[in-house]
Amino acid sequence: MKKILITRRLLKESEDKASKMFDAHLNSNDELYSQSRLIELSQGCDAVLTSLTDKMDADTINKLPETIKVISNFAVGFGNIDLEAAKKRGIAVTNTPEVLSDATAEIGILLILGACRRASEGIEAARESNWKWSSDYLIGKQLTGTRLGILGMGRIGQKIANIARSLGMIIHYHNRSKLSEDKEQGAVYHDNLKSLFSVSDVLSICCPATKETENMINKETVEYFPTGAVITNVARGDIVDDEALIDALHRRKIYAAGLDVYKGEPNLNPGYLKIKSVFILPHLGSATKHTRTAMANLAIDNIDEFFRTGNCTNKVN
Ligand code: GLV
Repeated sequence: MKKILITRRLLKESEDKASKMFDAHLNSNDELYSQSRLIELSQGCDAVLTSLTDKMDADTINKLPETIKVISNFAVGFGNIDLEAAKKRGIAVTNTPEVLSDATAEIGILLILGACRRASEGIEAARESNWKWSSDYLIGKQLTGTRLGILGMGRIGQKIANIARSLGMIIHYHNRSKLSEDKEQGAVYHDNLKSLFSVSDVLSICCPATKETENMINKETVEYFPTGAVITNVARGDIVDDEALIDALHRRKIYAAGLDVYKGEPNLNPGYLKIKSVFILPHLGSATKHTRTAMANLAIDNIDEFFRTGNCTNKVN
């Protein structure tokens, strides 16, 4: 039986599944392992099932024992893993696409609604009974007829586009390549950022975090948006230069932001907390029982597929 290290606690059903299929080392206290602890615990293991909270940089990967053949990431994103370093050591890296797209798109829409309709201010006022109805109270931005720019029109971006269309939004997108017409569903393709941002009344960031997308929202690109645009991020914090966005929010160049992900999670730039028009969530994209179970089960099955066949459909390196 293959031996695997699971670095974070999974929902019970998935831990039971892993224990049936493998000699699985679980983390029932869900403690965050340091780099040295993770390396120590992986001794004698054939695979590690990691989470996005595990920083699998080159140094960590280089110190993993020879026996490790797979790193199975419990996430669709894999910005926490140095793919090159893994490849050099002959370690396969896998992820969990598809199964989390619906849940993440729901949070993507919640960010858009929360930011545009001033949910943070509304919640605070309602909790403190500090409000009175009036015709001009907490007036926000209506979505009907506004242009939604989608940065990264992959599976999650397309799902967000579908829901947003039903809310009357007009969809524009930028992607490395133009989609086929059946996937576009009338969305307008932009082959560069400037072109997309200049028509985005609302932006939804849905692209992976890579060297190319790091700080795509920055001092220069924030100026491309129409004044009063809304920026939302359901992907990864690394795509946004926080100081540039915070400054643009203060200047009201950007009207509001909706954020589920941050650089340096679980900490977030304290500048965001001082701005009322920022709607924030603690990385809830895939957080439903159905989705987290499906993701963990897929991460387990990815390891099984790799050892059975020598390859895996969800291999990313
Ligand atoms: C969640 O953020 C994921 O990448 O799966």
